[in-house]
Amino acid sequence: MRQFQRTLVTTALPYANGPVHLGHLAGVYLPADIYVRYKRLKGEDVIHIGGSDEHGVPITITAEKEGISPQDVVDRYHAMNLDAFTKCGISFDYYGRTTSRLHHKTAQEFFLEIEKKGIFTKRTEKLFFDCKADRFLSDRYVTGTCPICNNPEANGDQCEQCGTHLSPLELINPKSKLSDATPELRETMHWYFPLGRFQKQLEEYVDSHEDDWRQNVLNYSRTWLKQGLNDRAITRDLSWGIRVPLETVEAAGKVLYVWFDAVLGYISFTKEWAAKRGQNDLWKEYWQDPGSRLVHFIGKDNVVFHTLMFPAILMAWNEERTSGCYNLADNVPASEFMNFEGRKFSKSRNYAVYLGEFLEKFPADTLRYSIAMNYPENKDSDFSWQDFQNRTNGELADTLGNFIKRSVDFTNSKFAGVVPIDCPPNVMQSFTVILTHGNDVEIDELGNRVDLEDLIDEIGQAYEDFHFREAVSKTMDIARKANRFLTQNEPWKLIKTDRDTAAKIMSVSLNLCHTLALLFYPVIPETSNRIHAMLGFDGTIESLINRGVSIWDMAKKPGLKKGHRLHGNSEILFTKIEDADIAPELAKIEGLLAEAEKREAGAEQDRMEFKPPISFDDFLKIDLRVAKVIAAETVKKAGKLLKLQLQVGSVTKQVLAGIARYYTPEEMVGKNVVLVANLVERTIRDDISEGMILAVEGADGKLFVIEPDGFEINGKQIQ
Ligand code: MF3
Ligand code: ZN
Repeated sequence: MRQFQRTLVTTALPYANGPVHLGHLAGVYLPADIYVRYKRLKGEDVIHIGGSDEHGVPITITAEKEGISPQDVVDRYHAMNLDAFTKCGISFDYYGRTTSRLHHKTAQEFFLEIEKKGIFTKRTEKLFFDCKADRFLSDRYVTGTCPICNNPEANGDQCEQCGTHLSPLELINPKSKLSDATPELRETMHWYFPLGRFQKQLEEYVDSHEDDWRQNVLNYSRTWLKQGLNDRAITRDLSWGIRVPLETVEAAGKVLYVWFDAVLGYISFTKEWAAKRGQNDLWKEYWQDPGSRLVHFIGKDNVVFHTLMFPAILMAWNEERTSGCYNLADNVPASEFMNFEGRKFSKSRNYAVYLGEFLEKFPADTLRYSIAMNYPENKDSDFSWQDFQNRTNGELADTLGNFIKRSVDFTNSKFAGVVPIDCPPNVMQSFTVILTHGNDVEIDELGNRVDLEDLIDEIGQAYEDFHFREAVSKTMDIARKANRFLTQNEPWKLIKTDRDTAAKIMSVSLNLCHTLALLFYPVIPETSNRIHAMLGFDGTIESLINRGVSIWDMAKKPGLKKGHRLHGNSEILFTKIEDADIAPELAKIEGLLAEAEKREAGAEQDRMEFKPPISFDDFLKIDLRVAKVIAAETVKKAGKLLKLQLQVGSVTKQVLAGIARYYTPEEMVGKNVVLVANLVERTIRDDISEGMILAVEGADGKLFVIEPDGFEINGKQIQ
């Protein structure tokens, strides 16, 4: 592993188009915050940069729906999300906005640099134009019938019903979302970023991280690389966004594609952070010094933007430069998703628990701990109210809280609130020793010698490797051992007969309280500070943080000397969560689930409503043929499609069918199918489809291809 001098941590910029929910917190912001707080404790140079993604079409759609300006929308959600993050203790060094002047300037600089080098390609294409609204329509502004599943409300970029990625040109009966007008096709020129030009460099880059990137991150990236990288349009015909910084006719009315601009936000916001500190050039150390390490925390849906697109943009910038080159990310710890009560969070379905709302009812640290213990590292995890209650009551309150309170209370009552003796270090090291039995070292269940320093090193290593659940649960293990140490040694009994040993036990216990305050700081910082204060320290743990001094390592040694005075009264660190506290939340979930079910039942009913009648003559217009599948293959980047070659009599026809989820190509070859042979040809994903094959839909949406049995294929119409 390379040694770095400093670390720049970034977190995906959430769209300022809605409140962040617990899923976002679990996958991105909490793990990043834990990591950064850990690094700060280690005395390392680390900054955490985040902010709001304030461009993009969903924001203008929200604005139009609510009759307010896009600026109003982003102002509202930027403030709301920043407030929720702050209440949750997410300690950004800077939280920016992509609508800032400096960010616009930075993104435009990147565009111009790449334009100047002649790297962009330009293409004229036909795009839908809404004459009533006098605007080009980006993908999301067009709706129509899905060519694959006939969903009448497919979006221009994707059909929600069958999941197929679409282009608006593929929609049947396209309509503008702005005015209901039938849009017309007009020519428009756009800038494309030729990702393929960086294919080899990107492959080398990804390969060089074979050993340190997560499997899911490597997999997503390689799936794209294997398919071959294509040109990506990086401009749009929109008014909300960053203007294309050229004074040409072609550039008029165009803005940068939101993803091109958003990733550059990380750079702009670091510049703003530096400027705010009065050190305008400081940002360069984090981005351009090879001794700096860049780490992006994101969710799995953002992987390729961070492992391919953004690095390619930086490669384009770096090309032919001898100075001012940017570092590429050293790691991209992408999370899987955290589900909630067994279901995916979904903003559009209103199935979510929003961070701000949660924190109005429960303390941030209880949430942080429970979520950290459910960190979706390698697979999707599930968070439930029950789990939240159990962890809060059983682990935080009964284990950690109880240990701290008993230690402080007993010292207050029997030792006048003063650490009675210096902590014997070897005893602290193997703190499960039962002093009354006179042993020096206790052996754990597996026969290993328990060693506090080793445990702390393991926890540290787990943080370094982004294994957050492991780190936090091992930290709780220490609290558990400490609690057991106190219980088993029973100082409340010993004090009557052997005050010296009781003093020893309390000194060890209090020092373990101190150790735990430091070790728990990355996860539950507010609680750590309260413990620290209860132990009689004036300043916060933050006030101890100092470059080059490892507070983390101080946790390994006794930190409270003989005579050290505790603060006084103890406080209850965690209030238990009663069933009655979560009952309304559970009821709410049931309501949400019932609504979802109703919606699904409604969809089922829609299916029972028949389409308007057609005449017999109309029916006769359909030319149905039996055809044999002679070849089949999957279609790149259209996960739902199979490309079929059909033999119909003496001719072959190519059909793209949305059945890849239900049939493998191998299964299809050799089947007899029913072909609608005279359907108008259509282009789907740059490929031609010359008809349609008949299938029926089962209860759960699964498709069954109709297979006429025992047919001699003779090409005759079968009516
Ligand atoms: N706004 C995007 C999302 O919520 C994430 C942007 S991350 C950045 O999916 F890299 F572009 F900043
Ligand atoms: Zn569809």
